[in-house]
Amino acid sequence: MASNTDTAQVEGKGLMGWIDARLPLTKMWKEHLAEYYAPKNMNFWYYFGSLSLFVLVIQLLSGIFLTMNYKPSAAEAFNSVEYIMRDLEWGWFIRYLHSTGASAFFAVVYLHMFRAMLYGSYRKPRELLWIFGMLIYFALSAEAFMGYLLPWGNLSYWGAQVIVSLFGTIPVIGDGLVEWIRGDYFISDVTLNRFFALHVVAIPLVLIFLVVAHVLALHEVGSNNPDGIEVKKNKGPDGKPQDCIPFHPYYTVKDIMGVVFFLIIFCSILFFAPTMGGLFLETPNFDVANPMQTPAHIAPVWYFTPFYAMLRAVPAFAGTQIWGVIVMGAAMVILFFLPWLDRSPVKSIRYRGPIYKIGLALFVVSFLTLGYCGMQPAVEPYKTMSIVGTIYYFAFFLLMPWYSRIDSHKQEPERVTYHAH
Ligand code: HEM
Repeated sequence: MASNTDTAQVEGKGLMGWIDARLPLTKMWKEHLAEYYAPKNMNFWYYFGSLSLFVLVIQLLSGIFLTMNYKPSAAEAFNSVEYIMRDLEWGWFIRYLHSTGASAFFAVVYLHMFRAMLYGSYRKPRELLWIFGMLIYFALSAEAFMGYLLPWGNLSYWGAQVIVSLFGTIPVIGDGLVEWIRGDYFISDVTLNRFFALHVVAIPLVLIFLVVAHVLALHEVGSNNPDGIEVKKNKGPDGKPQDCIPFHPYYTVKDIMGVVFFLIIFCSILFFAPTMGGLFLETPNFDVANPMQTPAHIAPVWYFTPFYAMLRAVPAFAGTQIWGVIVMGAAMVILFFLPWLDRSPVKSIRYRGPIYKIGLALFVVSFLTLGYCGMQPAVEPYKTMSIVGTIYYFAFFLLMPWYSRIDSHKQEPERVTYHAH
């Protein structure tokens, strides 16, 4: 009896009241949207978080429909993709949605990460948010790598062969590890099956979990902004940050506008240039996997080429590629430490000195150059360019504790810079 009275006391009116007394839906809506206060000066660069979420949804939905018609076996995979493309109604659309979506995912995530470098969004108190972001990046890379084997094209096969065999360079356990990953003595039906299971079930689950953790960590500390100042310091008499506006409706509307801009570009590619001249869907992958015929030129998809160029920039010493593998791995792992490498007294590029501004601009140039070199054959001048790019990439991060401290800086404002339109 007593518990019935308790429920009656807290229960609001109508269906929502009934639900809220059992599941805090309205509370969650308020906490994460209607009363999540975000800085009012968030600009163009703040589109890419919600766009990453949007692309994640595209990938999950198109992936579900692809799985309904795809056959994960070495004998049938390639033909099932051809069937989807040619015979299945709207199959080409679903497939191009997923393949263009993969490239779009990396494009928006790279821009999203770059925003953090512009405004120091990884700095205290957002270190954990950044670490979750990096874990997402790793999971996303694994997801893309495994997905690439599934169409069982010739580059799927040889790309997997090259990358999996890199694990063989690890002393002592290397050979056993490669066999364990493949589940066979070569890339085979067994490998395809396990990559399918990981790509379709395991990694998407991990990704969703990490994205939830990422957004919860963001909402715990609050968003950074283009001025890089902590808006929570300036609270009004109502206890709310004065430089903030409720996420809903202001940023939901802004983000929908971002989605519209994004869709214009995304659909133009999807409908008019889905292969992007071999950049998004590579030409050798229109031939079925053939263990007897290595493609003339093996290169990963564009989003991995900067790291691939670093792998190739390190020559094989004593017949082992292990140093190249270490350099490539370190290039990704070093990003985890960014919050502690950066010692500047200010966060945003707006108030940082010339060393960081020029350093970051050159970092972009070196990353793009590495990406370009990674797509080219390993000959001159690309070899030398890759070496220079790799050295600069590491110098940018490893020297950061030093140059970020000696660099000049401007005084940060007390309140965010905002001009009403
Ligand atoms: C599936 C991939 C991802 C999704 C869905 C996602 C989602 C989001 C969303 C919705 C926001 C808030 C809106 C915004 O600030 O743009 C955000 C903020 C942030 N994300 Fe991500 N993210 C992803 C990947 C990453 C990665 C790979 C990193 C970095 C390694 C990262 C680092 C950050 C940081 C530092 C912020 C705070 C930015 C600020 O407040 O200035 N995220 N993310």
